Amino acid sequence: MTAGPTFEAIDAVRGITNKSSGKMGYAVALAAMEAGATVTVVSGPTCLAPPAVDKLIHVVSADDMLHAVQAEISQTDIFISVAAVADYRMAKVSEQKIKKSDKKLSIELIPNPDILMTVSSLPEPPFCVGFAAETENLEKNAERKRRKKNLPLLVANLAQDAIGSDESELILLDDAGKHVLPKASKMEQARHLIKHISALYKR
Ligand code: C5P
Repeated sequence: MTAGPTFEAIDAVRGITNKSSGKMGYAVALAAMEAGATVTVVSGPTCLAPPAVDKLIHVVSADDMLHAVQAEISQTDIFISVAAVADYRMAKVSEQKIKKSDKKLSIELIPNPDILMTVSSLPEPPFCVGFAAETENLEKNAERKRRKKNLPLLVANLAQDAIGSDESELILLDDAGKHVLPKASKMEQARHLIKHISALYKR
């Protein structure tokens, strides 16, 4: 699994990140442990207590996260990608702290690798589950992502409801259509999700 945000350095002291708390990812990890799975979590920086899982790998950037995932993936049956991976990183990170001036400052960003798509495009991919946080046209955008990334299951939620909150409403999108999980705690949602994954995986 991946969880949490990533942090992309701008210079020695600054960076780009997002508001993901890691709560949903850690809840899914705990629910998978409860269900008897052996769980490895690759986590970006969060303020949460580390979840009690079999293996926890701390990373900072999307590139670090990709490398950690690639090192684990051959021993993985199910890959659940909950991390809010930054879409872009600096073309060149400044080693020194950038000095303030009165002039405009531009930074050049380049796209990060898509970790989930890298995994789902492997010749023999594990069962891949994606998450999509959208601010508008939730189902349409989420289903489009599911097809683009070739995922048997994608979990959609409204970013403004879910980010940082202890509760969320989820929509599970799979080949059979949509399944709404009405608002509940992230731990309850995580348990429902693991049950759903387990049923699809056994098929
Ligand atoms: O395209 P979008 O970022 O909305 O896709 C969300 C899904 O893709 C999530 O499961 C997220 O963990 C994964 N993702 C990724 N690497 C990226 C971007 C997204 O693994 N660079």
